[in-house]
Amino acid sequence: MGALHEQTAALDAAVHMPTYARKPVMFVRGSGMRLYDDDGREYLDFVAGVGCVNLGHAHPAVTAALAEQAAKLVQVSNLYFAEHRDELAETLVELLGGGRKVFPCNSGAEACEGAIKLARKWGKETRGEHCFKIVTAERSFHGRTLAALAATGQPSKQAAFEPLPPGFVHVPLNDIDALAAVVDHQTCAVMLEPVQGEGGVYQCDPEYLAAVRCLCDEREVLLVLDEVQTGFWRTGPAFAQERYGVSSDISCLAKGMANGLPIGAVVARSPVADVFKPGDHGSTFAGGPVICAAARATIAALQSERLGENAEATGGYLAAGLIALAESTGAIAEVRGAGLMLAAELIQPNAAAVAAAALARGLVVNNIGERVLRFLPPLVCGVGECDTLLEVLSELLTAEVS
Ligand SMILES: Cc1ncc(COP(=O)(O)O)c(C=O)c1O
Repeated sequence: MGALHEQTAALDAAVHMPTYARKPVMFVRGSGMRLYDDDGREYLDFVAGVGCVNLGHAHPAVTAALAEQAAKLVQVSNLYFAEHRDELAETLVELLGGGRKVFPCNSGAEACEGAIKLARKWGKETRGEHCFKIVTAERSFHGRTLAALAATGQPSKQAAFEPLPPGFVHVPLNDIDALAAVVDHQTCAVMLEPVQGEGGVYQCDPEYLAAVRCLCDEREVLLVLDEVQTGFWRTGPAFAQERYGVSSDISCLAKGMANGLPIGAVVARSPVADVFKPGDHGSTFAGGPVICAAARATIAALQSERLGENAEATGGYLAAGLIALAESTGAIAEVRGAGLMLAAELIQPNAAAVAAAALARGLVVNNIGERVLRFLPPLVCGVGECDTLLEVLSELLTAEVS
């Protein structure tokens, strides 16, 4: 442990609410796939700030956009027009196929809250006061604020904070009959992650998501796709809904949008979006010129560097490597995910120990609970870095099972 890390760890314990059990490392610098700790030691980053730093650390185009706008004007609020806000929204709408409008926000939870409020208002205005129920999936994750937490299908995260806002129903993922049984005249929306992230990286089956879209159309219910983790080329295309050929009525975006800076957006089809009127929703910081300049630079670089194609190709390579590792070590029960959003479910409940041992070997890897190792590297990740990961994991998993 470096001196800076030691000092910071003591202060951290004294002054922060203990909502995170931090890992024993302090990163002070990054470049592309690489992170450096306060002792100057290099690490390969397979977490990317939990799926945010899609361009890689310290991308010069983002740094330049930030510095330029920060030197000019930082904050005016949403009461006034501002540079970069509309151009960013225009790009998001184009990426989602047009005919939509944007509400800018600051995080994934806020994007989900905004989507929930919009869906409820749409339900009440078009179908009546009773129409506010939202159906989501078991194991889903939509954020930590109260309504997003109520939408989240993980009772262990909810219990301490009950009573939660009413009107949320959870059904098993990939079971269209279970969904059809609960979507009724009180339902305004179905809300799903195309690939569940925090729940352990479980994909919607293509036939399921297509059937969900049909069901929503038949019963005049909105389809909300939470693309907070899957968005911005993480799974290959700009948004995972493209993979499925399914188009949402409302999309929730965040994480990769400004390469690690706090931002989010609710993007809704125009007739739905127009339900929000002045005063219905808001945010002091969202849509500010600095964050929007950073997001525009991020999206432009993700496109010009064709990182979606790399996510698809390198993700395929890593997935194949993990499947081979499952055979050679006998320690992996299942490999799941799409693009560079992958997980290996371990047979033994030792994912935290494996992640800790990987960190000691210079690899930053995330565990979800005791069974799942998750891989969300920057989308600049190449096959060489995957080979390093696979070699180290092979040694660790062989040692763990022997
Ligand atoms: C799918 C999904 N929705 C919402 C959130 C919440 O985002 P945030 O932590 O930015 O509030 C997350 C965070 O991991 C997520 O993966």
